[in-house]
Amino acid sequence: MKTVAFQQCINPDCRSTFDIGQTLTSCRHCGEFLDIEYDWSKAAPPARLRDLQQRWTNRRFPLDYSGVWRFRDLLPFSADAMVCTIGEGQTFLQNAACLGRKLGMWPGQLWLQYEGMNPSGSFKDNGMTAAFTHARIVGARRVACASTGNTSASLALYAAQNGFQGIVFIGSGKIAFGKLSQALDYGARTLQIEGDFDTCLARVRQVSGQLGLYLMNSVNPFRLEGQKSIMYRILESLNWEPPDWIVVPGGNLGNCSAFGKAFAELHQLGLVRRIPRLAVINAQGANTLFRMVNDGLTWNGGRVNNALIQSHYARLDAENIHPHTVASAIEIGRPVNLKKALRALDIMKGVVAQVSDNDILEAKALIGRFGFGCEPASAATIAGLRQLLASQVISRNERVACVLTGHGLKDPDATVQYHTGIRTKDAQMPAAEPTWGSFANQPVRVADDMHAIVQALGMSMDDLEGSPRSGYVETAADLPFVEY
Ligand code: F0G
Repeated sequence: MKTVAFQQCINPDCRSTFDIGQTLTSCRHCGEFLDIEYDWSKAAPPARLRDLQQRWTNRRFPLDYSGVWRFRDLLPFSADAMVCTIGEGQTFLQNAACLGRKLGMWPGQLWLQYEGMNPSGSFKDNGMTAAFTHARIVGARRVACASTGNTSASLALYAAQNGFQGIVFIGSGKIAFGKLSQALDYGARTLQIEGDFDTCLARVRQVSGQLGLYLMNSVNPFRLEGQKSIMYRILESLNWEPPDWIVVPGGNLGNCSAFGKAFAELHQLGLVRRIPRLAVINAQGANTLFRMVNDGLTWNGGRVNNALIQSHYARLDAENIHPHTVASAIEIGRPVNLKKALRALDIMKGVVAQVSDNDILEAKALIGRFGFGCEPASAATIAGLRQLLASQVISRNERVACVLTGHGLKDPDATVQYHTGIRTKDAQMPAAEPTWGSFANQPVRVADDMHAIVQALGMSMDDLEGSPRSGYVETAADLPFVEY
């Protein structure tokens, strides 16, 4: 008999189930991916979502305070005592009124879910708390992942705080220093493998299987259970009224997969009446989902056309095509959660867009100029939103929540290079692009002299005794609307 939580194969022709005490990243029978499923008749889901929000005020009980575990009734796979939490998910849905206006949206309709506020600075902590909890349940001691940077930073942090040994595989070269510094500081054994993220992930899956390391990548279905909570927090901030659209960058496609599962369950439980639509944004240089969907690939009730996927990958191999984008976090050619992402698109009537590196960097600068910091991958959301507004896929009066997945300080090189044109040690800006961006805010070299400083501030000596309220003040609203 099934217990409350169990693992289940996503293949409709298999549907094998496994106990949650097993450590699996694929179905033992058919090799497909697994979901964590629940027997809701035994699990006692909440009668109303708003009943869960009160818990946040209980700051002395870590599970109630966590932005993931205060929703534990919607991911009931662990006893409270086994949960590994470090206060993740204290993140906010912020109204971005000025940015929205700049994009031509109706007042108040643009919202940013700022996941950079997590303990390790990215959304990954939502998933890591859940996967570490499972690792503790099965008695694992050593945990591993492949990463473009944020997964490794998050893994290293949770490992250090919860008594695990962290092992991370990163590709050679392409990792933002903010992220690398975290893995090193938190004491993870860091292996820099020759090759890109796709190579690293294939290798770490093999190594973990053979050496018994607990795998923390999003092939681990428990990761996605934690990431569902990003959607719960968006709903909570909007007083449980779903937005019209959720916009999220697509890399390994774990996040969008988790969002789809979250809404399928909420709908099934009668906790939401309407499911928002989903827009997944790929970088042009790492656009497998975009290409596949345009080639007609669909979820098709779980019977996905494998031949189409294989022929795409065979072409990448034959033409020696490797993913390449300034948004190093999503520089991924073989997203492991491709099928689950197709399912999410099906559940949420989703669309996929692709954006250029230039669009990503310009969107990032615009987000920053209006007072929100994020790394390039996260800015793909606003670049994608602009495109979808222009093509009228998203209407200007619709309510949109964009997930800013990682903090701006993760990749300061990209920001400094955009503003100054100076190629810092690890900046990834493609050489063919202009040396600085349209919203460049270059530091001004100025002599240590009052006259020179007054001039550099665009003021005059008459202003020296002036009131702080006098004179023209330039604000973000004065920005020219640059078409890019
Ligand atoms: N945004 C950021 C900041 C990321 O770090 C990632 C993925 C994504 C978006 C894409 O999310 O994979 O769920 O589609 N980073 C992984 C890593 C791959 O290793 O840190 P996804």
